[in-house]
Amino acid sequence: MKEKKLWSGRFTKNVSDLVEQFTESISFDSRLALYDVKASIAHTKMLERSNIISKSDAARILSGLKKIDQLIQNNKLPLKKEHEDIHMNIESLLTKMIGESAKKLHTARSRNDQVLVDVVLYLKDIVSIMNREIRALQKVIIIKAEKNKDIMIPGYTHMKQAQVVLVSHYLMAYFNMFQRDKERFEQLSRSLDILPLGTGALAGVNYDTDRNLLAKLLGFSQVSENSMDTVSNRDFMIEFISHCSILSMHFSRMAEDLIIFNTDEFEIITIDDSFTTGSSIMPNKKNPDVLELIRGKTGLIYGDLVSLLTLLKGLPLTYNRDLQEDKKIIFRTIDTILPILQIAPALLKNIKFNTHAINKKMRSGFLLATDLADHLVKSGTPFREAHCIVGKIIGHCVEKKLSLFDLDLKDFQQFSNKFDHHVLALLDYKHSIQSKRSYGSTSFKSVKNQIKKAKRLIQ
Ligand code: ARG
Repeated sequence: MKEKKLWSGRFTKNVSDLVEQFTESISFDSRLALYDVKASIAHTKMLERSNIISKSDAARILSGLKKIDQLIQNNKLPLKKEHEDIHMNIESLLTKMIGESAKKLHTARSRNDQVLVDVVLYLKDIVSIMNREIRALQKVIIIKAEKNKDIMIPGYTHMKQAQVVLVSHYLMAYFNMFQRDKERFEQLSRSLDILPLGTGALAGVNYDTDRNLLAKLLGFSQVSENSMDTVSNRDFMIEFISHCSILSMHFSRMAEDLIIFNTDEFEIITIDDSFTTGSSIMPNKKNPDVLELIRGKTGLIYGDLVSLLTLLKGLPLTYNRDLQEDKKIIFRTIDTILPILQIAPALLKNIKFNTHAINKKMRSGFLLATDLADHLVKSGTPFREAHCIVGKIIGHCVEKKLSLFDLDLKDFQQFSNKFDHHVLALLDYKHSIQSKRSYGSTSFKSVKNQIKKAKRLIQ
């Protein structure tokens, strides 16, 4: 025999099995169980202190909820589809455990505000886990940058070798991207600091409740202002997925860089065997699948963002059952982003820069072209003219299959008499790095400064 629905009063027939299957959410919202109990404990205390329920009822409810909390911690909470969602599963179980008093728990609240407080509490935890993981990743980036601080690589624009940069500068670029991510999530923590509970179904409740007390008990610093907005609001979920989308986009770009650097054509990095996979047919293969999956999973997160925005775009105020699907979406986002956050630092640790191969790739010296032009500028040539002169030198080298290192002073002077013997000293990548003067550049001094600041930021 099935138990009666908590809302069955006005119904003359049992709900069809098909409908029960179709409308349940317990199969995915059970992960909110601990937060649901936490919110119910606060709600019970508030009801008691506001003289809405008696001390003895409150005591019975609280002791029942604590037992349920234990069941959840031990993974023993019975979950029934016939009770639809996590809220009614817990309330039904409580009623079974303590009887009549349990029926007073749902006074002055609705599942519409209850589900929100659960999700907000849950997201608060997830966001702080994510910020911790991002910080851990940033630490690895700093260590990697320091360890490889003198290695130079070609920097690219349009996927063509452009100017020489330090590997540490390159790595610190990602540090900055992840720093912005962390700041976005910190900002979101402020949106999550507003208590939705206590607004009831949509209009508020007919009791003299104390929402400030609820906020205090649950660790919120503010209370939401408008009950209709509150039960309809999913902005914070959109923000969350949006921030995750940007974060995963950063991961995906890093993955793409590293995939390219790892190709047989570039050979800039080698990934440790333990972080690569093989092919079932080609014995020669050692593939960067982790990086490819990071790139691929990013697409799923973008999909989640569009799913949630689409779920909301036509929804009239206030609560509509469509909103039940919101949880499926954010849970999927979380289940996609967390594993990426966990594997990324380990992956970085398992990457080596191949100085020998890198130096071979930079042999033409064309990465120094801008430095040559700047050298002419110093002796009075306008930059645009200097650009043209050096362009001709590069064209000459390309035609004759020469590198810049093959030219001597006389060769240079054929293109401009402004070239003096100093030009030969320019033909050195280290010199090029050292010549960068602007704040935030790839010079040794600048990168050292960046690392110093970064260390302070993640403390
Ligand atoms: N399981 C529901 C959800 O996740 C809880 C709120 C139900 N409210 C309602 N009016 N049926 O959205």
